[in-house]
Amino acid sequence: MLVDRFIPKPYTQKVDVAQVRHRAPSNIALVKYWGKKEGQLPMNPSISFTLTHSYTETVIEIAPRTDFTTSFQIDFYFDETPKDNFLPKIETFFTRIRNYLPFLRDYYFIVRTHNSFPHSSGIASSASGMAALAMCLMKIERLFSPEMSELYFYEKASFLARLGSGSACRSITGSVVIWGEHPAVADSSDFYGVPIGDVHEVFDTYQDAILLIDKGQKPVSSSMGHRLMQGHPYAEARFVQARQHIAQLKDILREGDLLAFTSLVESEALSLHAMMMTSDPYYLLMRPNTLAAIEQIWYYRMSTQVPVCFTLDAGANIHLLYPHSYHKEVENFIEQTLRKYCQDGEVIHDQVGS
Ligand code: PMV
Repeated sequence: MLVDRFIPKPYTQKVDVAQVRHRAPSNIALVKYWGKKEGQLPMNPSISFTLTHSYTETVIEIAPRTDFTTSFQIDFYFDETPKDNFLPKIETFFTRIRNYLPFLRDYYFIVRTHNSFPHSSGIASSASGMAALAMCLMKIERLFSPEMSELYFYEKASFLARLGSGSACRSITGSVVIWGEHPAVADSSDFYGVPIGDVHEVFDTYQDAILLIDKGQKPVSSSMGHRLMQGHPYAEARFVQARQHIAQLKDILREGDLLAFTSLVESEALSLHAMMMTSDPYYLLMRPNTLAAIEQIWYYRMSTQVPVCFTLDAGANIHLLYPHSYHKEVENFIEQTLRKYCQDGEVIHDQVGS
């Protein structure tokens, strides 16, 4: 089995205490992952841009365990404050990955974490949060097995991150990342994300202005959304469409075809939300201001030919994507037209990173 290679051989080094740190960025999907199989495996492949300024930074300290009354010994701090209500999520994650990281049972973990974006921004922290945690754990495992290769290190980090939150596996390495097996990318895998090479340089300059339309908690979680794809009347057609989009996007990314990029990315965003609107029970995550802003984006693009497009994740907020060469025009457009649709006028300016 492919996953057996992530079960480590006996460790070669002893570790008493250690401290590791990692900063993992968020990512924004261009082709969306929506629907999963047993074992946190995707129903269709997805491709994302890695971001830069929206990140989670995590520090883990380990020491020999002192308390054996529970499965794991963990203290968790969010922004320097103990947060026991986050512990069950970490314990579930540790339980899922303990066969791949045997040291989890033997140490006391103090986990401190911080997001660069406000908790109540409507930006999901699960991708960057789980990626930062997985990378810290791999940095610890490398102390026990310093001989592990770079490739193994990053593939296993992405493999572990996926078991925390699917999209987190795309926040480990690379600026454009595919997760999910697809013939268009030879080494693509359902088990971890891999960077896509051969991407036109214009995409390295892409900006992502996140329009915070609604900073509140989503009425339906992503986990529920993935579940509602089981037995969904349009699920099969959606998975076929996503696979076609992967093949098309691969070419678009190579050629730098911005017009084709725009229509594919917007189609993906609206298809994702169409799945929500047609599930049973049906629901809506877009807000009236999401639609108002989308209409303005379409009008602006038509009248100026500026290649700006939007995408959405599972929420009301808009990610406005555009090449840096248009940043002056687009920033003006945001100020004059779009900012008024944002809650408290808030916009986060991010960009593609690695
Ligand atoms: O990784 P999850 O379970 O939070 O799901 C992410 C789902 C989307 O953000 C809507 C799409 C994606 O591919 O990131």
